[in-house]
Amino acid sequence: MDKERLRCEKLIGKVVSAEQAAALIKDGMNVGTSGFTPAGYPKAVPLALAKRVKETGEKLKINLLTGASVGDELDGAWARAGIVNKRIPYQTSNDMRKSLNDPAGVQYQDLHLSHLAQQVRYGFFGTMDIAIVEACAITKEGHIVPTTSLGNSPAFVKEAKQVIVEINTSQPLALEGMHDVYIPNDPPNREPIPITKPEQRIGTPYIECGPDKIAAIVFTDIKDGVRPLAPLDDESRAMAKNLLGFFDQEVKAGRLPANLLPLQSGVGSVANAVLAGLVESELKDLSFYSEVIQDAALDCIDAGKFRICSGTSMTPSQEGLERFYEKIDHYKKYILLRPQEISNNPEVARRLGVISMNTAIEVDIYGHVNSTHIMGTRMMNGIGGSGDFTRNAYISIFLTGSRAKDGDISSIVPMCAHIDHTEHDVQVIVTEIGVADLRNKSPREKALEIINNCAHPDYRPMLLDYYERAVKSLGKDRCHTPHIVSEALSWHDRFVKTGSMKIK
Ligand code: COA
Repeated sequence: MDKERLRCEKLIGKVVSAEQAAALIKDGMNVGTSGFTPAGYPKAVPLALAKRVKETGEKLKINLLTGASVGDELDGAWARAGIVNKRIPYQTSNDMRKSLNDPAGVQYQDLHLSHLAQQVRYGFFGTMDIAIVEACAITKEGHIVPTTSLGNSPAFVKEAKQVIVEINTSQPLALEGMHDVYIPNDPPNREPIPITKPEQRIGTPYIECGPDKIAAIVFTDIKDGVRPLAPLDDESRAMAKNLLGFFDQEVKAGRLPANLLPLQSGVGSVANAVLAGLVESELKDLSFYSEVIQDAALDCIDAGKFRICSGTSMTPSQEGLERFYEKIDHYKKYILLRPQEISNNPEVARRLGVISMNTAIEVDIYGHVNSTHIMGTRMMNGIGGSGDFTRNAYISIFLTGSRAKDGDISSIVPMCAHIDHTEHDVQVIVTEIGVADLRNKSPREKALEIINNCAHPDYRPMLLDYYERAVKSLGKDRCHTPHIVSEALSWHDRFVKTGSMKIK
């Protein structure tokens, strides 16, 4: 028994195998797990459950709630075993994605990430039957020390009837002290969240639980299945350059301080590449109040750019994770992990004046953004925290390459085939071509700004042609947001039918 990791004497008798712990999970249950963008999710118990179902043919359907995406040992294994009825609130697994896009597959509710914890407490999902949480240790009092993410674990543990803890010995004990756990009261007793600076600590370094609620403890050493990040390319370098040019202009105009305001940066390769651009910049004394901490955030710490890096999850690539573990005592001085209802909290984002920078799948000429649906119907990942930050940001920015799929798709389209962020929330668009500043502009002004500054030259004439025909065809009294509605989505249709948005 590793007494350094399991410090509560009362719990020693609850150490069981992954199979024994998985036996607690029954048909129809709501299961809430730790984990946020393949970091800090349970692995041994989910794998044992999937194996049991595969081997026995048992009929089992459960509802899986997490912080955000989790690794293949959970989302992948459970999707392949066909045991998920409903999945909430975000995922990035190929097999889960396949299933939730299949009418006979998983029902997926794509939710703002800051919303889930409070909605669980409000009872919107029924009872939380079991929480499975990865830990690096359990304290003497039976409280849980989380690992590389915090996500929704505090709320799941609070609401769960039973808790299964996976103590993961591949996660360094040095993670202890990096977390700041705070659960707000719910209305009508909610009080202001007392964060006025990104570095402020307001809670405890562990998740309160107590020994009685813990039904089983499993030891494992399966590592986080982190994802690779695409290398920096010319397109992402150009986007970063355009973004930095925009910041420079804002500082010169007195609309931002020289060290900017707390930055938020989205998930994925584009977001990582753009943040990497900060390393080369003249900017300093920056702060980061965001959701995921990827490789580029570590680069910014190493380059002395970030004063503080607050998020809910450590989500670097394999190399990034090794670098983080190696110098964990150094990074610990800069990194703070919070529950996602705090890292992504709209009240805090607005108070701090966060600059949000998220990635779009497509943007339309009036500034609506699609972050989730390929060609309007196929779910990619989910809205994640992009809406939490965008609606409440000091300045909200979306980045995207101007084209996708080797140039056959224009990411600037007449009308988004699905909308996650509306024209009312989106202020700046950045592509490798340039920057569209949508502040203080009407829809017609926005359209010309976006087409001229952000669209790829291959598609700009087609977009201008569409816009001008729309204005002409509508006449005087219907032209606030000019569209030829029957034609607006024909670009997507053309790609689906011919494999390219270009007119051949
Ligand atoms: N039309 C069709 N497909 C498109 C597209 C478009 N306009 N733009 C991108 N894609 C495809 C890419 O080709 C790629 O497909 P593939 O996986 O088959 O190769 C995929 O979408 C991902 O695009 P990529 O360029 O690799 O970007 P990314 O890794 O930076 O991810 C998002 C981009 C939008 C999918 C990702 O940022 C996301 O899930 N965002 C929503 C959640 C979010 O914003 N969270 C932030 C919280 S703080």
